[in-house]
Amino acid sequence: MGEPIRVAIDGPAGAGKSTVAKLLAERLGFLYLDTGALYRAATLGCIGRNIDLSKPDEVVAAVKKMFIELRGRVPYLDGRDVARDIRRPELTREVRYLAANPAVRRQMTQVAQRAAKSLDVVAEGRDAGTVIFPGAQLKVYLDATVEERAKRRHAELLEKGDNIRGEEVLEAIRSRDKSDVEREDDPLQIAVDAEVIDTTGLKIEQVVDKLEKLVKKEVAKRSE
Ligand code: DC
Repeated sequence: MGEPIRVAIDGPAGAGKSTVAKLLAERLGFLYLDTGALYRAATLGCIGRNIDLSKPDEVVAAVKKMFIELRGRVPYLDGRDVARDIRRPELTREVRYLAANPAVRRQMTQVAQRAAKSLDVVAEGRDAGTVIFPGAQLKVYLDATVEERAKRRHAELLEKGDNIRGEEVLEAIRSRDKSDVEREDDPLQIAVDAEVIDTTGLKIEQVVDKLEKLVKKEVAKRSE
């Protein structure tokens, strides 16, 4: 056995990263690592402790005391399964405070690296290929137009019974793009060695097929 295979999938909110990363991990038999879940769990922990999110020092002190981990795919906060709670829309709006905090980022990076152990993983996030696994054998940047991403997210929410308006979803995605790209620490950026895939108009299966081929090519190269 050689070194573990790391596949890093980054990109803006709504580009299809989660769906693609999960399916790809299943096909390859790799662990799926959702790094955004860690930022969400830390945010949930702060809200539960009534921390003023606009005060970075208080946030850091609180997060240091939390025990955040991924057990397989499931995020845990202080021993509690928080897979459902971290998806609440009102929490999604607040994650940016934690994502913009360098000390929190260092801690979450370590949690993600620890969760990967020495396993083959498909990691998904904003800095999976640039910061968490800079040596990843395959780095992918998934993109799509903001309108397409908002349309997909809107359809998802409607399906879940959330009667939100399309314009509201578009606005929320625009605002998350802005905070992901403009934050000083580990902003969302395209790794120099990343494969950029625009998923606008593509079917999920087409994207997964393409990535599966790329990973297999990478693995074959290593066993030559
Ligand atoms: O992918 P997601 O929507 O679950 O991510 C939640 C938030 O966490 C989002 O605001 C961006 C941030 N994030 C990050 O800063 N770095 C990562 N590696 C993953 C997510």
